[in-house]
Amino acid sequence: MSTPPDRLDDLVESMTREEKLRLVRGTVLLDEGRATGYLPSIDRLDLPSLKMVDGPLGVRLDEATAFPASIALGATFDPALATAFGEAIGAETRAKGIDVLLAPGCNLIRTPHCGRNFEYYGEDPYHSGALVSATIEGIQSQGVGATVKHYVANNQEHDRTEVSAAVDSRALRELYCRPFEAAVNADVAAVMAAYNRINGTYATEHEALLTDVLKDEFGFDGPVMSDWYAVNNGLAAARAGTDLEMPGVGVYEMLPTQSERLTLLAPLDEWWPDSIPGPDALVNAIARRASTSRGGIPNFSESKFAAELEAALETDSFSPERLDAMVRRVLTLYTRGDRSNESTGINANDHRSLARTIATRGTVLLKNDGVLPLSADTDVAVIGPNVTTAKVGGGGSSEVNPSSTVDPADGIRNRASGSVTVAQGHPPIDDPSIFSIDIGSKFFGETESTDIQPAIDAATAADVAVVVVQDVATEARDRPSLELPGEQNQLIQTIAANADRTVVVVQASGPVALPWIESVNATLCSWYPGQEAGSALGAVLFGDVDPGGRLPVTFGREGTYPTSAQTSYPGVSGNENYPVAQYDEDVFIGYRWFDDHERSVQFPFGHGLSYAQFEYRSLSLGEGNPPESATVTVSNTADRSGREVIQLYVEPEDPAVDRPPRELAGFMSVELPANTEHTYTIDLDERAFAYYDDENGWTIDDGSVTVAVARSSRNTQLRTETVISAEQSEDAEPR
Ligand code: BGC
Repeated sequence: MSTPPDRLDDLVESMTREEKLRLVRGTVLLDEGRATGYLPSIDRLDLPSLKMVDGPLGVRLDEATAFPASIALGATFDPALATAFGEAIGAETRAKGIDVLLAPGCNLIRTPHCGRNFEYYGEDPYHSGALVSATIEGIQSQGVGATVKHYVANNQEHDRTEVSAAVDSRALRELYCRPFEAAVNADVAAVMAAYNRINGTYATEHEALLTDVLKDEFGFDGPVMSDWYAVNNGLAAARAGTDLEMPGVGVYEMLPTQSERLTLLAPLDEWWPDSIPGPDALVNAIARRASTSRGGIPNFSESKFAAELEAALETDSFSPERLDAMVRRVLTLYTRGDRSNESTGINANDHRSLARTIATRGTVLLKNDGVLPLSADTDVAVIGPNVTTAKVGGGGSSEVNPSSTVDPADGIRNRASGSVTVAQGHPPIDDPSIFSIDIGSKFFGETESTDIQPAIDAATAADVAVVVVQDVATEARDRPSLELPGEQNQLIQTIAANADRTVVVVQASGPVALPWIESVNATLCSWYPGQEAGSALGAVLFGDVDPGGRLPVTFGREGTYPTSAQTSYPGVSGNENYPVAQYDEDVFIGYRWFDDHERSVQFPFGHGLSYAQFEYRSLSLGEGNPPESATVTVSNTADRSGREVIQLYVEPEDPAVDRPPRELAGFMSVELPANTEHTYTIDLDERAFAYYDDENGWTIDDGSVTVAVARSSRNTQLRTETVISAEQSEDAEPR
């Protein structure tokens, strides 16, 4: 399709008003095939249709490779792996004839309860920015446009279509906007505006954030599309900088038959009237319900751009130039596509093996008393509610349908040469899906009872019990607590009390409570490991590969996060008729908060053990003021190879403004062979030393800073001090 950019102005020029209005409003009804969103063709202008599909963990269309959750990719701390992942999902998207992928998501993890944490990379803006840009480069290298989402301060699912994030500009710039800025620097094709409000204004209507910051300052020249049904006031959104309303149609245009309406609206079940009268009344009742946004479910009643923009153009209350600018931006999506390489098959072996690599590289070894890795002849009891199902992902628009999966029981069976006994010991924890089922309370802890005795017997007889547990997370709903649902904690305690040695594998969307950690010998966090869950687990448990992951999010304790007060999360309604979440913690989220408040954590940001042993030998800073790089020598003193994530943190000594005690400024994931030493140079950019000031923008003050090389935000190995001085900076070679 590839439309050269220089044709865009001619195209805009030659379009009728009706055609322009059609192009800034998507649809979901395809003339050929299916998609999550779609722009219809304009045959008169030889403009083909343009298809968009979810999502961040793999392509949500028919069968596709179900990769580990984005937070697992975050845990790899490896942009090169993110690019390989992007290339794979880009190729699968292209192979399905889709032009634009609705991924990646890069909202920062502000609250551990957010239902979509698994779709994001972590809590640090530099780290998320590095991974999101690498992912985008991979996707777009395949002739597919990437869509970064959800701009911005979209940090909770609770009341997601209503809540207002009360957040100041410094926190927006230093934290929440930064991964989006990185995405723009990576030339992302589209930006999706979020459901929530920011400081009282809907994201889709936020002129300062959309036009002034994103477009004018960051230099984004593609279209801002709304999240699905996130346009509330069409005119306000178009004026503010939203260029494309998605999906652009109401549910009634979408679903012609009543039975289809019923299926789609099933998740709204709990809000329907008890007595359902005849068909007409039913449709009216659905219409009433559907036109009120509730909880996490958007109002999907009708298109706002369709009627409102046309009427406003008629009365001169909307400028035709702005419509032209919107159309031009939307048309840039047509310059991204390359339909010449639609031949790549899906679920190819190399994608499956990449899914396994990301799963192993993202697995975090939280604790190990030496029980891991297991020797091949170990007799293993594999226990847990879902050991015979691969934990493919969480609920919502990121759900992927893989053609094959490897569950934990099979993954261990395939690898072990000793005996393997499988016992659930707990009823299955259901996987949520907002597409097919009621997202009610049963997903958050209500389970039937199951006989635990076979699991106890298996654990007692084996050399090692491997207990696989999981949390439950879905779009449109937050997790009510950090506890594992059901009685999984008790299951672990009981097994640990009976087994010789116990290894716990936590499949988690983000931070979870680990109250049994002292009673077990080892704990792995594998996030949502995707379709290769079992093969990755087998490889890590038996030591074929080193668990390469480090926590991209602090594992704190319930009640100790900055979002513990209700005013902060999920927010309360004051004089406004919508909930307001006060981002009182300002720039102190995640480890920035725990460090500033000197609070203890379960496991710090950046933590993760290896099967090898590393020693840090030297740290020196490169040229420039502030320094442009740091050079670190690391030694693997073990008799096996291992993977280390070298982390650099910057600690200002005596800052002029309140700043976090340390901030991540660089990192590198490296594989070091047994008994070898290597020297690595890691770049530092100027932002590493800067803070955002409303008047002066990004600011670097004179003064002393420490650069620390660390194995986590709380495990510094070496540090060195440098003095930043503006005078020297000016003398320094221009960058
Ligand atoms: C989600 C988006 C997704 C869109 C289309 C929305 O509910 O927030 O992330 O891309 O639906 O499925």
